[in-house]
Amino acid sequence: MTRGDFLRLLLGATGAWAVGGVAPAGGAPARTMHTRAIAASQAQLPVVGCGTWRTFDVGPGAAARAPLLEVLRILFDHGGSVIDSSPMYGAAEAVVGDLLATMQARERAFIATKVWTHGREAGITQMRRSLELLHTDRIELMQVHNLVDWRTQLATLRTWKGEGRIRYLGITHYTPAAYGDLEAVMRAERPDFVQLDYSLADRAAEQRLLPLARELGIAVIVNQPFGGGELLRSLLSRPLPAWAGDIECTSWAQVLLKFVLAHPAVTCVIPGTGRPEHMRDNVQAGFGGYPDAALRERMVRDVAG
Ligand SMILES: NC(=O)c1ccc[n+]([C@@H]2O[C@H](COP(=O)([O-])OP(=O)(O)OC[C@H]3O[C@@H](n4cnc5c(N)ncnc54)[C@H](OP(=O)(O)O)[C@@H]3O)[C@@H](O)[C@H]2O)c1
Repeated sequence: MTRGDFLRLLLGATGAWAVGGVAPAGGAPARTMHTRAIAASQAQLPVVGCGTWRTFDVGPGAAARAPLLEVLRILFDHGGSVIDSSPMYGAAEAVVGDLLATMQARERAFIATKVWTHGREAGITQMRRSLELLHTDRIELMQVHNLVDWRTQLATLRTWKGEGRIRYLGITHYTPAAYGDLEAVMRAERPDFVQLDYSLADRAAEQRLLPLARELGIAVIVNQPFGGGELLRSLLSRPLPAWAGDIECTSWAQVLLKFVLAHPAVTCVIPGTGRPEHMRDNVQAGFGGYPDAALRERMVRDVAG
C-alpha cells in the first residue's frame, strides 16, 4: 500500500479533514471542554486527554490505525488536546506522530511524552528520537518516566526547557510504593507537572501528594483513572446509581473520571483507549458539573466500599 492509499483509506474511514487543521465531524462547531490553569504558566489545559500505553502500540497497517485516528479526532473535536506517550510504549510515539501529521493537527495537540533511560547521553538520544517519531521540533511536556535516573534526566530537561525544546518538565510514577520518592523530588525540584495514579479505588495520593502539588503549584496529570481498566470492568455490570445523573454522567467511565477531576489539585486526566466509542464516552467527563465533597464521599462508599 502506498502512503497515498493509506491516507485515502484513513480519510475514507473517518470523514473529511479540513486542509490545514482538524474539522469537527459534520462541520458542526466544536464543543470545548473545561480547562484548568497550569500553575507554572497560567496557560489553560483541557481536563480530559488520552493515554497511549498498549492502545497505540500498533503496526503500520491502516486497519489498526484508523480507529486511533478517530480517537484523536474525537478528542480534538471536543476541545481536548493532551496526548500522553513514552518511548516505553512500543510504537505509540510513532503512531501518534504519524496520525497528527495525517490530520495536520500538530498545533491542536499538547504532547506529553517521557524519557525512560539511564545516563545523560542515552537520555538525549532517546528524546531526539521521540522528536523524530512525533514529527516535531518541540514537546509541550517532557516527563521523567517512573523517576528513572531522575537527577541526570531532570538536569537535561532544564537545559532543554531553557532552549525552548520543551515547554514544561515533569516526573511520573504509577504506584503508591513510589510516593515517598515522588514527594522528595517534588519538594527538591519543583517540576511543572507530576503524573501519578489516582482513582476511586486507589486514593493514596489524597494523603500527601495531591495537597503537596497544590501547595507547591505543580500541575497534576492522573494516570490509570480506571485502575488500568480493571476497576471500570468490575463496575460495568452494575446499574448506574441515581446520583450519577446529578453530575451529568451517563456511564461508569464518566463517573470514575469525574471523581478524579473533582479533586481540586487535579489538572488533567488521561484515560487510555484505542476505541472511538470509548473516547466519545470519556470526553463527556470534561463537560458539566463535578461532585462536591459530600457526593465524593458517597461515591467512595457506594463504589469502592
Ligand atoms: N508511569 C507512568 O508514567 C504511567 C503509568 C501508567 C499509565 N500511564 C499513562 O496513563 C494512561 C492511562 O492509564 P492506563 O491506560 O494504564 O489505564 P486506564 O486509563 O485506567 O484504563 C485503560 C483501560 O480502560 C479501557 N477503557 C478506556 N475507556 C473506556 C470506556 N469508556 N469504557 C470501557 N473501557 C474503557 C481501555 O480499553 P479500550 O482500549 O478497549 O478502550 C483500557 O483497557 C496510559 O495509557 C499512559 O499514557 C503512565
